[in-house]
Amino acid sequence: MPTSEPMTIFENWFAKAKKAEPEYYNACSLATVSANGKPSSRIVLLKHADEQGFVFYTNLKSRKSLEIKESPHASLCFHWGNMKKQVRIEGKAELVSADEADEYFQSRPRGHRIGAWASRQSTPCGDTDLEQRVAYFTAKFGIGKIPRPDFWGGFRIKAERMEFWEDRKFRLHVRTCFELKENNWSEAWSKVR
Ligand SMILES: Cc1cc2nc3c(=O)[nH]c(=O)nc-3n(C[C@H](O)[C@H](O)[C@H](O)COP(=O)(O)O)c2cc1C
Repeated sequence: MPTSEPMTIFENWFAKAKKAEPEYYNACSLATVSANGKPSSRIVLLKHADEQGFVFYTNLKSRKSLEIKESPHASLCFHWGNMKKQVRIEGKAELVSADEADEYFQSRPRGHRIGAWASRQSTPCGDTDLEQRVAYFTAKFGIGKIPRPDFWGGFRIKAERMEFWEDRKFRLHVRTCFELKENNWSEAWSKVR
């Protein structure tokens, strides 16, 4: 299947961001909404993107994960300052498979895998709680394999709308919006403002 137009643009911009942005070129703001309609946002790192969706990993007991369970609609917003570009992605989030999460988890540095066990994300903790938990899990796993905790996994946002924003001279901006309808992407509009 040929790559769709919005995905082609995204891949092109993402590859350029990898060179142009000194740190965290894959960082984006993830917005979720609670069952009672209250929005919240935070930065996550994009770990995979293709026509199937945009994947990030997290603690499954975190606020974002609980909100996604309550209401699967979510959005990602990338801002690449050096490139003067923004991408907005909207769609429904779904859990990645256990196999996919396992494979990614095992690719992470050992310290990150220990950190996943030690962290009780979104939960208040005392000054030394985290260090103690890191020490505990470091000793527990020793030099053996570190399995993926069942409270750690990934979400894939299956895009339904993607908007590309570019800065131009005289503070004119070009925005191009694509929408997915019946499995086909089409350009909904393009505007210069
Ligand atoms: C640069 C950067 C990258 C981050 N990447 C992730 C990530 O990939 N996954 C994650 O769960 N949290 C990540 N965080 C932490 C989140 O922003 C957030 O603090 C945490 O996930 C708890 O959010 P929640 O309580 O709304 O669920 C990152 C923070 C920063 C500043």
